[in-house]
Amino acid sequence: MNKGKVTIRTFLEMKKKGERVAILTAYDFFTAKILDEIGIDCILVGDSVNMVFYGSKTTLSIGIDQMIHHTKAVSKAVKRAMVVADMPFLSYQTNVSDAIFNAGRFLKEGGAEGVKIEGGLEMTQTIKKIIEVGIPVMGHIGLTPQSIHKFGGFTVQGKKEKTKNYLIESAKELEKIGCFSVVLESMPKDLAKKISGSIKIPTIGIGAGSFCDGQVLVVNDILGLFEDFKPKFVRRYAELGKEIRKACQKYLEDVKSGRFPSEEESY
Ligand code: KIV
Repeated sequence: MNKGKVTIRTFLEMKKKGERVAILTAYDFFTAKILDEIGIDCILVGDSVNMVFYGSKTTLSIGIDQMIHHTKAVSKAVKRAMVVADMPFLSYQTNVSDAIFNAGRFLKEGGAEGVKIEGGLEMTQTIKKIIEVGIPVMGHIGLTPQSIHKFGGFTVQGKKEKTKNYLIESAKELEKIGCFSVVLESMPKDLAKKISGSIKIPTIGIGAGSFCDGQVLVVNDILGLFEDFKPKFVRRYAELGKEIRKACQKYLEDVKSGRFPSEEESY
């Protein structure tokens, strides 16, 4: 593992060396500190926070101030990993100057080192301008959750020839305008393999199979903290939801029965 600070240069070197990039989301100081200490390469302050933390059905309603608030908490905890913040719905689609201003706020106020932006060919003019002012951008194509209503659900993308070509061309264009990596979400593994083989920036898969140059998952999903549903591509490494339930149930019983606090827990 490279022990130094992870930057966009590290991403590109890792791709060259064939070293996989490991990314998890985090939205708070405590989780970010643990992820940084174990050596995760990049922490994404994802707009998935709107679903797994605030209980919304989609990512659409989170605002930029809320996202910056979470980004600040994460940045404070992190020493080595690269911190990337997700630009929320309508913070970059309306016009280029809003997009630059809002992307800049994540660096200025949130302490992020880059932003992630959803969209392919249709977003490249805007992304290019953001990169030109010095803000690193991670692209995101495939199932882009901010377009959930356009897709009609959380459906796998790139099965039809037309979307397959659109996704390949989008990845190439994102590389060309200077993105330092691109998330490939929910697409057939062979398509992700083809895209990964045709660009020099790392592809970060989520539901896109094992041929991507790196992987990203939502931390609450792998810890079993989000129990409403489990997508096929999520691997559960812990069942913290069950553990929290057990621990809090025990506390409840102890208070009710008078077993808490004990003599040792009293002054
Ligand atoms: O919002 C998010 O957490 C994401 C990743 C899962 C890619 O966009």
